[in-house]
Amino acid sequence: MLPVRICSNASRHVGCKVAPLTRRALPIASKYPFQKPTSCDQPKRSLSTSTTPPTHPEVIFSGIQPTGVPHLGNYLGALKQWVDLQNLAPPSTELLYCVVDLHAITQPQDPNDLRRRRQDTMAMLLAVGLKTERCVIFEQSRVAAHSQLMWVLSTLAPTNLLARQTQWKSKLAESEDRSPLDPDGSSKLKLGLFSYPVLQAADILLYGTTLVPVGEDQVQHLELARSLAGKFNRTFGKILVVPKVKLAPAKRVMSLTNPTSKMSKSGAVNSQINLDHSESEIRLRIRGALTDSIPGISYDREARPGVSNLVEMIGNMTNRDDFEVIARECEGLGMKEFKDRVADSVVEGLKGIKEEYERIKGDAGYLEEISRIGAEKANRKANETLGKVMEAMGMGVNPAPSSS
Ligand code: TYM
Repeated sequence: MLPVRICSNASRHVGCKVAPLTRRALPIASKYPFQKPTSCDQPKRSLSTSTTPPTHPEVIFSGIQPTGVPHLGNYLGALKQWVDLQNLAPPSTELLYCVVDLHAITQPQDPNDLRRRRQDTMAMLLAVGLKTERCVIFEQSRVAAHSQLMWVLSTLAPTNLLARQTQWKSKLAESEDRSPLDPDGSSKLKLGLFSYPVLQAADILLYGTTLVPVGEDQVQHLELARSLAGKFNRTFGKILVVPKVKLAPAKRVMSLTNPTSKMSKSGAVNSQINLDHSESEIRLRIRGALTDSIPGISYDREARPGVSNLVEMIGNMTNRDDFEVIARECEGLGMKEFKDRVADSVVEGLKGIKEEYERIKGDAGYLEEISRIGAEKANRKANETLGKVMEAMGMGVNPAPSSS
């Protein structure tokens, strides 16, 4: 039996709408896939009002690396959307959320830090409002099928496609930049980093995933997953489901100190807001955000990236996407008052998460139990797909684990 805990933010984000926004060729879930619940305790988004139920049950899968405390970009681009989907999905929808520690080790990790961060990330997933009664929450390394399917898919993955992945190219560029003074630079590029997107494809394809809620930086990886699924099906028979990507309205939250780059865990101190920051820390960081000297507040991502990022923060924290209107509402404010308004919405939108996180994160026994139960469920489903894949390829199939 799963240990029961009382969650202080049980109703977090019930009723939020998540509108897909993208201009890319990749098929995106074009409408909100679920019916709106009758009761809604959040302001409505002005976009996306589809109430067409899907004709087949959806399977939602997504992942986050345990490489540090999640920041506002992770929250608005992914975690908030995961919770919204959880709260809106009909009972037939399966939801799986994964702490992708195998991906984390594509960069050097101290084992003790990784152990703690895996646990902390599990705690954060619960603190933002995910519920184990509704979602399978698990750690990737506890499900061997991820690595096994990855190997199979790697035999279908063209290296020229992998070499074109932005993440790989940026690491390659960093290493080349360093080469004159650091002869060891290129050897720091490992095969695991190169094949990272193949592992990501395996994560998704193992569960018959139909929908993958992620931020914009993951779109290229999703294209590869779709292409590998298609290739497998054409070669060995229709076994894998070709997933769609689901972008949050906050598909790219930008750094506070360098608003033309995305907010990231490896960014400068003060460039992010982390989900465990205190109210005063959040206010301080937003007050220090880089803006511009143009008078007034307006929304223009190109000309005013810093101010526009902050306008979007207000919108995304309050479930609105009418950013021009929000900017007009703030038009008369000085920069300090505007930043205070941004901070108010961020503080309000994150209310309760830090406290819940602090409460759960030290409880190693509880988190271990959640993780174990999640992995059991994930293993069952993953091994089913892996069995079909291996059989179709003429390979040996894992014996079913004993049901003790
Ligand atoms: P990761 O751990 O870097 O980020 C987790 C999620 O947060 C989103 N995100 C952002 N969204 C908006 N603005 C930002 N500044 C921002 N920064 C991060 C990411 O898009 C992501 O959705 N490769 C993935 C993990 C992964 C995965 C998967 C995701 C592994 N397997 C299968 C989906 C499905 C990653 O590194 O995410």
